[in-house]
Amino acid sequence: MISTSKKITIAIDGYSSSGKSTLAKEIARLLNYKYIDSGAMYRAVTLFALRNNLIENSSHRVNEEKLQKLIKEIHINFKYNSDKKRQETYLNDENVEDEIREMNVSNNVSFIGKIKFIREKMVAFQREMGKEKGIVMDGRDIGTVVFPKAELKIFMNAKAEVRARRRFIELKEKNVEVSYEEILENVKNRDLIDETRDESPLIKAHDSIELDNSNMTKQEQLDWIIGLVKERIN
Ligand code: DC
Repeated sequence: MISTSKKITIAIDGYSSSGKSTLAKEIARLLNYKYIDSGAMYRAVTLFALRNNLIENSSHRVNEEKLQKLIKEIHINFKYNSDKKRQETYLNDENVEDEIREMNVSNNVSFIGKIKFIREKMVAFQREMGKEKGIVMDGRDIGTVVFPKAELKIFMNAKAEVRARRRFIELKEKNVEVSYEEILENVKNRDLIDETRDESPLIKAHDSIELDNSNMTKQEQLDWIIGLVKERIN
């Protein structure tokens, strides 16, 4: 545990499966900070839209009009599960942590993440959660849009093949039937949509520090970020 008197905000952005959440969770644990996975929020909205048949199967077209009408019915929150030692995502009081990681959600989430009114609602909620600082949030627009004044901003990247391989191993461990090729395609598609969307595209904030972890161990990444945190809290 690193003890600090000064609380800061840590924004970790970057490409999908670049290891943001692993690093974010670990540094939040060491600092005794709140950890928020903002991607889980977009995934929960996607699950809601899929369950309500608001995303067309082949075209991924979202029925935005209906979604906007139903948005008031979407309530997302997080609870810590001490048995599983992980934070879990709740959609309208239902634990959806496992379901939001499935391929069907992964394949549709970028189409939900493009929608302006969805992003506005998520950003407002994220700012509310971070208003007292002492928070680590990971996502795509945390350092650029959600917390532009964050004391520490990290932008993470790794080669698409490395990221797909990590995701493949993760899903295999969970017994999810999926091929490496399918994951690589999903990773590349999401990169493209994340980078080219009009609303809050994935870009590196001018004051964020880049980390390419293609050839780094988890411990090396953690030591690196601890150094940066210490510079900011002392
Ligand atoms: O981090 P993740 O792969 O679980 O994120 C799921 C999707 O949500 C991803 O395609 C991009 C989107 N997202 C976003 O647009 N903004 C964020 N702050 C976090 C995620």
